[in-house]
Amino acid sequence: MTLRAMDRRRVARLARALPGVLALLAGCGDSDKADVAGSLGLARMTDVNPAADIVEVNLVAEAGRMRYLPAGDAEVWGYKDGARAGAVASVPGPLIEANQGDKVIVRFTNNLGEATTIHWHGIRVPNAADGTPSTQKEVAPGGSFVYEFIASDAGTFWYHPHIRGDVQLERGLYGMLVVHGGPEVPVSADRSFVLDDVKLEATGKLSEQTDALDIMLGRQGNVLLVNGQRRGRLDIQRGARERWRFVNAANGRYFNLRLPGHTFTVIGWDGGLVPSPYTAETLLIAPGERYEVLVTLTHKLDGPLAVENIYYDRGHDIPDPGPQALFQVSFTGDAIAPGQLPSTWGSMQAIAVTSTTPAEMIVFREEDSKTPGSEPRFFINDNAFPNVPLISGREGETAIWSVKNDTEMDHPFHLHGMFFQVLDVDGQAPEHSGWKDTVNVPQKKTLRFAVRYGSPGRWMYHCHILEHAERGMMAELILSPPS
Ligand code: C2O
Ligand code: CU
Repeated sequence: MTLRAMDRRRVARLARALPGVLALLAGCGDSDKADVAGSLGLARMTDVNPAADIVEVNLVAEAGRMRYLPAGDAEVWGYKDGARAGAVASVPGPLIEANQGDKVIVRFTNNLGEATTIHWHGIRVPNAADGTPSTQKEVAPGGSFVYEFIASDAGTFWYHPHIRGDVQLERGLYGMLVVHGGPEVPVSADRSFVLDDVKLEATGKLSEQTDALDIMLGRQGNVLLVNGQRRGRLDIQRGARERWRFVNAANGRYFNLRLPGHTFTVIGWDGGLVPSPYTAETLLIAPGERYEVLVTLTHKLDGPLAVENIYYDRGHDIPDPGPQALFQVSFTGDAIAPGQLPSTWGSMQAIAVTSTTPAEMIVFREEDSKTPGSEPRFFINDNAFPNVPLISGREGETAIWSVKNDTEMDHPFHLHGMFFQVLDVDGQAPEHSGWKDTVNVPQKKTLRFAVRYGSPGRWMYHCHILEHAERGMMAELILSPPS
């Protein structure tokens, strides 16, 4: 399905409007610096449990305010640390940290005016803690729920609602969860960055308008955010080696990062450290994915240095707005020489597959709005959730899934409750290996992965462009105990 002519014109109009909005923002110059905190750090969640191997937190969802533009506040929904007196909801929510093997107890309270749930994206939770409508009753306004799981894998994860995800995440409900563990990587700083974009009015308020284009592409905002800040600043020591963790929490935007004059050493992604780190000039992060990189800041050029988002062709003829600065890096003195890197990183044994391994076929299809005012539609195997036929299996079984993208745009595929290993894309083996739970399936291509089924329960899989997921591009895998 191609975008209809009308939508193409809308894309073109959006493309023309975007530099206008950016110019408007640039016009604010540095006078708005006072509105932007100087550091991009995330608030850390309070662990109220004294036991060394238990992380227990009080997480509250409620309405709040964020000042994205100097012009005024946006009314957002966010998470706050219920254990900290005077805390207010923020976007992103507080950073939850645990050590590998810790028990995590989240006492969640919903102070929003509508029901919600929390999904622990990437964590191998017991099914009852997965936060989807098929594993729990939604948490009504004023209600509460306790999530409990073991942080069994070290890595970079995140949390967000799993009902009305397109609306609730867009309003600001998301946060990061970092599980520490594995080989010690000597760095001057270990930083977490949550990427998002928001569609703002000139007043600084979130736009209430959702048009067919927002639905087709996943709502792409006109302002890019890192840890809830537009054009934030980061002070770093020259020569420092830092570990940067990224999650893409946007509804639909693909981020393609670059740091001019530098390269990224990719050391990890969704499922933790990769077995063999690699160097990359740019870092493509599809919605829902996480990456961990090392950067050594050796910048010698004059002038400012910024982490930029550059064009990636995600389909449907989306135009290139040119590089957009995400945050500014400034130097504060010189770092001490970085220590020795570990010789072994993540561990991953290839899942053994043969020609008799059970296979599943998932086909993504989309249909543009047929008449003005009607919405685009999204399908898995020609059905829309909850009518997609179930896939079933048993814990411990191995399967090969083929995800065929029969559309003219990329879709990020996400499976709950377990990690998988990509085998190939249109028959071509990937350059790098590691555990994934979210992977980009390029337009008109078929991606195959191997999976060893995890614990029993109902596990969702879906496109992580939330407008698509909430309109049918979602389905379930039902696992029973091993025979
Ligand atoms: Cu990030 Cu089904 O979710
Ligand atoms: Cu999609």
